[in-house]
Amino acid sequence: MSKFPEDLRVYEHLLWASRADVVVELGTQFGGSALWFRDRLRALEQYGRIRRGKVISIDIDLAAAREALSTADPDHGASIMLVEGDVRDPTLPTKVRDLVPAASRCLVVEDSAHTYETTWAALEGFAWLVPYKGYFVVEDGCVDVEEMRLSESWPRGVLPALKAWLATSEGSDFTVRRDLERYGLSCHPHGFLQRTAPASRGQGFIAKSREQDREMADGPAPNSGVALPCNSALPRTPEPSVLIDPDQALLRQAEHRAEAAEQRAKTAEQRAKAAEQRAKAAEDQMMDMRSQLLRLGDELFDERRYIAELDARLADAEGVVVRLHEELNVAQQLQDSSLWQLFQRARRRFYGALGGRESPLGRLVERSIRVLTRSALRKLK
Ligand SMILES: C[S@@+](CC[C@H](N)C(=O)[O-])C[C@H]1O[C@@H](n2cnc3c(N)ncnc32)[C@H](O)[C@@H]1O
Repeated sequence: MSKFPEDLRVYEHLLWASRADVVVELGTQFGGSALWFRDRLRALEQYGRIRRGKVISIDIDLAAAREALSTADPDHGASIMLVEGDVRDPTLPTKVRDLVPAASRCLVVEDSAHTYETTWAALEGFAWLVPYKGYFVVEDGCVDVEEMRLSESWPRGVLPALKAWLATSEGSDFTVRRDLERYGLSCHPHGFLQRTAPASRGQGFIAKSREQDREMADGPAPNSGVALPCNSALPRTPEPSVLIDPDQALLRQAEHRAEAAEQRAKTAEQRAKAAEQRAKAAEDQMMDMRSQLLRLGDELFDERRYIAELDARLADAEGVVVRLHEELNVAQQLQDSSLWQLFQRARRRFYGALGGRESPLGRLVERSIRVLTRSALRKLK
């Protein structure tokens, strides 16, 4: 079935409010919508809203619908009547009328080819089946709203045909119920037509009288607690949909909003570019710092190697100092020994006898002793 859920919701309301018990559908395709209408009528039967529901669905080619419906519901024939025919055929409405049980209230749905010709033929041929307060739904007027067209292959002509027909005397008995385009979401702009002039000139022919019409349409709903609240009268839609605004004022508003949004998007884009540039500059700076760090790392490495060399030299020097220290110790030990002191005293006397240490003889002897001492130390090592 190809219908918006929002439109299906509206159909549920129309069926309840108008107490339709026969749905005449022009355009069956696979039979999905026929099955859906049949099931809704069954629900209304269960609530006691109608007595017996029936769907009459017409298509120029019913092969696909027959196959699909037989699979979905082998007993569909009892409640869904399939009629093969062309909506443009002027003899078709009479054939269909003969299938509508007496005293029925029809809801007519035009969902065939969506061209000027078929829309006009549907309205001309079938609107008279609609009783007072009943509905005729012209589907898919969206084909004529540029903003709603999804493909160039879509047909055109629904809204022009509808407009022309509403201007006829029969059309003037109908009111376009734009408030039924609920939530601003509908494929059927201007398409919910209600007969608001009491049935005359033989229209709404099936209902018995004007009074019965009124009673059927307005009469109190049965006391079915579940169904009553949700099927009370629909509030009027305060705003028409942007997409279906005929004067295009809302469309212009939407365009202005779109322009403002575009401007905001441009500003955001500029900001994003500036931020990108800042990020790039920061990245360059980071790269510089990185190479500086690498250079410093290299320098640090050289420094460390140099320090290691100095450490090694220091260790060598320490070794020498330790050795000299040992030599000094040995010399001090010698100096501290009593033998050494005796030796000193004897030396002093000796030098005294030579005329003092500074005398030529004393110096000569001292030099000789120094030489002898060095050679003795060397031997000690
Ligand atoms: C949009 S589909 C119907 C979809 C169906 N009502 C649903 O909601 O599932 C249109 C159908 O109208 C049929 N159709 C096209 N031109 C027609 C014509 N001149 N007379 C009768 N049926 C026609 C097509 O064969 C097609 O199956």
